[in-house]
Amino acid sequence: MPLRPYIVGNWKMHGTRAMLSEARAIDRAAQRHMKVEVAIAPPYTLIHPVHREAEQIAVGAQDCHHEEGGAHTGDISAAMIADAGGKFVILGHSERRQNHKEADAQIKLKADAALTAGLRVILCCGESEKTRDDGNAVAHVKKQLKASLPQFSDNPEDVVEKLTVAYEPIWAIGTGKTATIDDIGDMHAEIRALLIKVYGEEHGSEVRILYGGSVKPENAGEILSTPEVGGALVGGASLTADSFMGIALAAGESEEG
Ligand code: 13P
Repeated sequence: MPLRPYIVGNWKMHGTRAMLSEARAIDRAAQRHMKVEVAIAPPYTLIHPVHREAEQIAVGAQDCHHEEGGAHTGDISAAMIADAGGKFVILGHSERRQNHKEADAQIKLKADAALTAGLRVILCCGESEKTRDDGNAVAHVKKQLKASLPQFSDNPEDVVEKLTVAYEPIWAIGTGKTATIDDIGDMHAEIRALLIKVYGEEHGSEVRILYGGSVKPENAGEILSTPEVGGALVGGASLTADSFMGIALAAGESEEG
C-alpha cells in the first residue's frame, strides 16, 4: 500500500516559545487532513514543548551526534531527542554539510545512532549549482546518498521502515528557485533505482523520497504529483500554519489524483 504523502517542516534556527501557537495551529489543521502525514522539526529547545501539546503531528530534530553521550559540549544525542519526545531526525542537510563540514561517513554514523535510538531518519542529499551546471548532479547525489545510508541491520526491512530520503538541490534552498519538474522526476527516479539496488525491489520501493527547495503552496501541487515524489521537506514556508498547511492540502489533493 503506498504510504501517505509526508510533509515535513524544517524550522532551521527559527522559533522561540512564541511560535508554539503556530505549531498548535499546524497540529489542529493536520487533524483535519489525515490523508497527509505532517511533521515538524523545530530547534532542539522546542522539541519537548511541541511534543507535549501535539496530538497529530510528529516532532523531530534537525541533527544529532553519533555517540550516545560523552564529552561533546553543545551536542545532542539521538537518545536525548527520543527522550524529549522526538520521533525523527533530519540528517545530512546541506547547511550542516556546508557550515559544519559534515561528511558522508559521519552522516552514516549519525543515521545508525538515530535508528538505534528508535528514531526515524530523513537523510538529505543534493547538488550545488556548479555540480548541476557541470552535468554531474545525478552522479554526485547517488554517491552522496550511497555513502551516507545507514548500516544498522542486515535486514533491509529494519532500515526502510524508518528511512526517508530528501532530495534538496542546494541552489533551490531559500532562493525561490525550484528544479524543473523533469529534473525532479529524473533525480527521484535515480534515487529510487539506487534504493532498490541497495535494499531490493520490495523494500527499496517503500522508502519515501521527499523534494525540498523553495516548496510553497503555489508550486506544491505540481511538485507533489511528480512520480516518485513522496512528500516535501519545507523550510521557509513551514514557519506559518497557513502556508505550511497550504502545502499539506496540495499534497492531499495530489493523492486524490
Ligand atoms: P526552503 O523551503 O526555505 O527553500 O528550505 C528548504 C530546506 O532546506 C528544507 O530542509
